[in-house]
Amino acid sequence: MIIAVDGPVAAGKGTLARALAARLGFAYLDTGSLYRAVAAMTLAAGEAPDDEAATEAVARRLTPADLERDDLRHEAVGQAASLVAAQGRVRAALLDFQRRFAHHPPAGKKGAVLDGRDIGTVVCPDAELKLFVTASPDVRAERRYRELLARGEEIIYPRVLQDLKERDARDQAREVAPLRPAEDAAILDTSELDADAALQAAMQILQDRGLR
Ligand code: DC
Repeated sequence: MIIAVDGPVAAGKGTLARALAARLGFAYLDTGSLYRAVAAMTLAAGEAPDDEAATEAVARRLTPADLERDDLRHEAVGQAASLVAAQGRVRAALLDFQRRFAHHPPAGKKGAVLDGRDIGTVVCPDAELKLFVTASPDVRAERRYRELLARGEEIIYPRVLQDLKERDARDQAREVAPLRPAEDAAILDTSELDADAALQAAMQILQDRGLR
C-alpha cells in the first residue's frame, strides 16, 4: 500500500507521515530531503542553485546516504531547495528514486508512506490513500519559529512568517508540479490538532475508506 502525504511547510505532514509509517509498519520517505540534499550538495560544490545543468547533474548522482547530511535543515539550504524544486529537469531526475521506494519499500515492508508536495498528484497518482495536510499560516509559522529556536538559530517571528509565505507562493505558483491537493485527497487541517490527534484523524480516514 502507498500512502501519499502532501502539504505546505510546517503543516505537520512530516510528523504525521512518520507516525503513520510507524503505526502501520511501513517504510517512510521524506521527499523534501531529496530536494534539500540536491541544494546542499550544489551549494557545497560552489555552484548556483538556479543553475539547472549543475543541479540536474547532482540529482542524477544522488544516493540514499546523501539524505543523511547534517546540513539539510539549515534555513539557507531550505531556501535553495525551493529554487531547485522549481526545476523540471531536477524533478524528472528524482522521480525514479521516489517511485522505486514507493513500489519496492526497503527491508521488505508491506507499504510506504511518502511525504512531500506532489506525491498524490505526480509521483504516485495510484496511491491507495492521499492526505493533504494543512494549517493556517500563523500556526505553521509559530511551529516553525519554535523549531528553529529549539535548534539554536537566531531568528525573529515576523521573518519566519514572511519566509513561509514566500515559500508557499513559490511552491504553489511554479509551473512544474505546483503544490495542490489531488482531486481524491482527504484534506486534514491540523491548526487545532496536536500530533496524536492528527494521527488519530488519519487512522480514522483509513478506516472510513475501508483500507484498514
Ligand atoms: O518539505 P521541505 O521543506 O523539506 O521541502 C524542501 C523543498 O522541496 C520545498 O521548497 C518544497 C520542495 N518539495 C517539492 O517540491 N516536492 C516534494 N515532493 C517535496 C519537497
